[in-house]
Amino acid sequence: MPTTLIEPFRIKSVEPIRMTTRSEREGMLAQAKLNPFLLRADDVLLDFLTDSGTGAMSAKQWGAIMEGDESYAGARSFFRLEAVIRKLTGYAHLIPTHQGRAAERILFSVAAKKGDLVPNNTHFDTTRANLEFGGVEAVDLVIREGLEPQNPHPFKGNIDLDRLEALLKKDGARVPFGMMTLTNNSGGGQPVSMANLRACSELLRRHGKPLVLDVCRFAENAMFIKLREPGYADRTVESIAQEMFSLGDGCTMSAKKDGLVNIGGFIALKDDRWVEAARNLLILTEGFPTYGGLAGRDLEALAVGLEEVLHEDYLRYRLRTAEYMGERLKAGGVRIVEPTGGHAVYLDAKAFLPHLRPEDYPAWALSAALYLEGGIRGVEIGSVMFGKRRDDGTETYHTMELVRLAFPRRVYTQSHFDYAAEAICELKAKAAAVKGVRLTKQSRFLRHFTAEFRWA
Ligand SMILES: Cc1ncc(COP(=O)(O)O)c(C=O)c1O
Repeated sequence: MPTTLIEPFRIKSVEPIRMTTRSEREGMLAQAKLNPFLLRADDVLLDFLTDSGTGAMSAKQWGAIMEGDESYAGARSFFRLEAVIRKLTGYAHLIPTHQGRAAERILFSVAAKKGDLVPNNTHFDTTRANLEFGGVEAVDLVIREGLEPQNPHPFKGNIDLDRLEALLKKDGARVPFGMMTLTNNSGGGQPVSMANLRACSELLRRHGKPLVLDVCRFAENAMFIKLREPGYADRTVESIAQEMFSLGDGCTMSAKKDGLVNIGGFIALKDDRWVEAARNLLILTEGFPTYGGLAGRDLEALAVGLEEVLHEDYLRYRLRTAEYMGERLKAGGVRIVEPTGGHAVYLDAKAFLPHLRPEDYPAWALSAALYLEGGIRGVEIGSVMFGKRRDDGTETYHTMELVRLAFPRRVYTQSHFDYAAEAICELKAKAAAVKGVRLTKQSRFLRHFTAEFRWA
């Protein structure tokens, strides 16, 4: 029996990708002010900027699109999606939104207020920004191992329960709910174990606090539990996911990840405490409660995607892709966050570019150099994304300087990954020539999307 794990799909429709020369890329990156977000996608060969909304839908999803009921109110497509989400999560209430951050904004607006504090393993950037925008403090409490790129801990997304308990004892009155991000995107795409999730849920419950799950990558998290946590090897991924959801009181979801769709999101809630206020805000800013910022066809595609994402052949191939890429990079002497996460490989920019200082923004510099070297677009998860310019003009820097190569779902084949690994390893050999960057323009929130730079 051959052991090669193949892509578990055939390709029915293809999109050309454009080859560019290094000198062309130099011109295009300069025009984009050294910010890969400002490049035209046509000028990128392998686009690993994000796994969000970039996946390929299946023939079944495209078929479902034709079934979309575009009625303004009470559309059949809403009830179809609601049934799928109820079966998966056990939560009674579905509030569709156009994407994850709209779900966050709406839920946080009704469930938290200025001066509150929300603990999480690690808030994703939009989660943090939506809380801070409302004057809420976002506190990251991932376990110590989660901040150590080389630590092989199997569940580096776990929350530090001792610190969570201390925070609840000291500041409990300010905490409206706790959160857990599954998998932990900012911390390396790392999973949370069922044991940790259960303990977190129980601890919050003892303090009378609900648990809101950020479930963008719930299926990848569930597969990691199946592969790594004792007692789960023989369980279906669906039943593991259902157990995960049972430990929360509600969730926010960017369906652009494990919903296998190009746009979409939702809030789902176990009981009705926040439902009415959230729906009222939804009507104000997204749309009527049975479509919430999406077309009926989007709801249909999502209903199919949420079932397809639990296919174990797909998840096995999905997690193996990142692992394979990690193995190739390590063989070429490139340091990565270990073990590999579900949706991405994270390059350790401090190790890649040891000659750069924090003020050189090493991870940003590496992401720019990767584009120049191989036409590959990754994203900085470091001090541009998580650092801040204080009012006095000084900067704060992030502990880790990572470049995330996030893999769109069902889009690239093994030879694409082989090419990317080769290009990165070749860049490693000439890393000493990579310069740092300087910020020349930035905005107050989510500055990485629009910031401008020059080489140091
Ligand atoms: C963990 C996590 N939460 C929330 C979001 C926000 O979702 P969206 O991009 O759909 O607004 C993302 C998106 O990347 C994410 O990775």
